[in-house]
Amino acid sequence: MVNLNSLGCFVVHIAFITSLSFSTSQSHINEIGNDITNNALFIFGDSTVDSGNNNFIDTIPENKADYKPYGQNGVFHEPTGRFSDGRVITDFIAEYAKLPLLPPFLEPCIDYSNGVNFASGGAGVLAETNQGLVIDLPTQLRNFEEVRKSLSEKLGEQKANEFISEAVYFISIGSNDYMSGYLGNPKMQEKYNPEQYVGIVIGNLTQAIQTLYEKGARKFGFLSLSPLGCLPALRAANPDEATKGGCFGAASSLALAHNNALSNVLISLNQVFKGFMYSNSNFYDWLQDKIKNPTNYGFKDGINACCGTGPYGGIYTCGGTKEIKEYNLCDNVEEFLWWDSFHPTEKIHEQFAKALWNGPSSLVGPYNLERLFNNDIKSMTIADVVDVPEIDHGY
Ligand SMILES: *[C@@H]1O[C@H](CO)[C@@H](O)[C@H](O)[C@H]1NC(C)=O
Repeated sequence: MVNLNSLGCFVVHIAFITSLSFSTSQSHINEIGNDITNNALFIFGDSTVDSGNNNFIDTIPENKADYKPYGQNGVFHEPTGRFSDGRVITDFIAEYAKLPLLPPFLEPCIDYSNGVNFASGGAGVLAETNQGLVIDLPTQLRNFEEVRKSLSEKLGEQKANEFISEAVYFISIGSNDYMSGYLGNPKMQEKYNPEQYVGIVIGNLTQAIQTLYEKGARKFGFLSLSPLGCLPALRAANPDEATKGGCFGAASSLALAHNNALSNVLISLNQVFKGFMYSNSNFYDWLQDKIKNPTNYGFKDGINACCGTGPYGGIYTCGGTKEIKEYNLCDNVEEFLWWDSFHPTEKIHEQFAKALWNGPSSLVGPYNLERLFNNDIKSMTIADVVDVPEIDHGY
């Protein structure tokens, strides 16, 4: 996970300073300082929100999306590392918040003045999930700390704290803990029953939220887990004879249990963390409805992947860079909910981003993202951060 381009970045930086020999560090501060009246968005998570961090790490092709036909639609027309035919949910959220696309943290020479994306395809809440092949959540948090320090150096402690507390922290993670981390890992299943395992994932996720809060984060957005058993890959792998061809029940149950536990944790954090504001979502029911009734929402197919092989396109081959080189690609991706065996299409990302932005309280709450971004909490100071009480992790 070495960023080979950091040297190049250094050289560019020197050249910039030389060409503007009279530019002082003061003017640099003002430049960024002006920007902090704008919103900022920090993104943590997995392939649902990765904007290209995995392009920069050593991993297996399953954890990459920097080859065709990823990114073939929408605004990019080329692979970017997003696990989608186009944009992902946080790209739309950034657009609605009048922010530029947030660059991946590992991209060289990026500027943090609008936030940054730390997410990594395949990552889980637990460090054990796909260990060594992803940027796990604890590492994503350490990367955030690096950004925080760099902002403090550039802006000064007080301005940086203001910036950190005004920003929105969007977290979309957990699916991989249940899919490869648990259902695909017999050792974990021997060690923990499903309920205990959900408790451990939620316990670690709660600690991550607490870590961000202690560093000054106040506004949080969460994408809850989808009905995991209905992903084409899991539908194809459903071992239950009674529901053959249907969704893999054990996977969806884990997702539901996770979502319920997370809702409870957020309710209690809201009571004990001063100034804590959050937006949670019901992605599970929202997507389940589209899977069952695709035609009501402008789709034709809620079951099969546009890009993949085998039953439901559930064999994860999209792009032909993985073990199996042959794959099918649909002609009209707009008709599909699922882009590949694990990931929804840009159209789904866009529709749910809209729902999170200003949707009804049945889908998003207690704040929707629009209110979260527009809520002014400048009066909060870092002093409010120091005493973090013991919290009940809700399980
Ligand atoms: C975090 O996960 C580890 C396993 O990686 C587990 O042993 C630990 O109990 C979890 N922490 C909490 C607070 O649940």
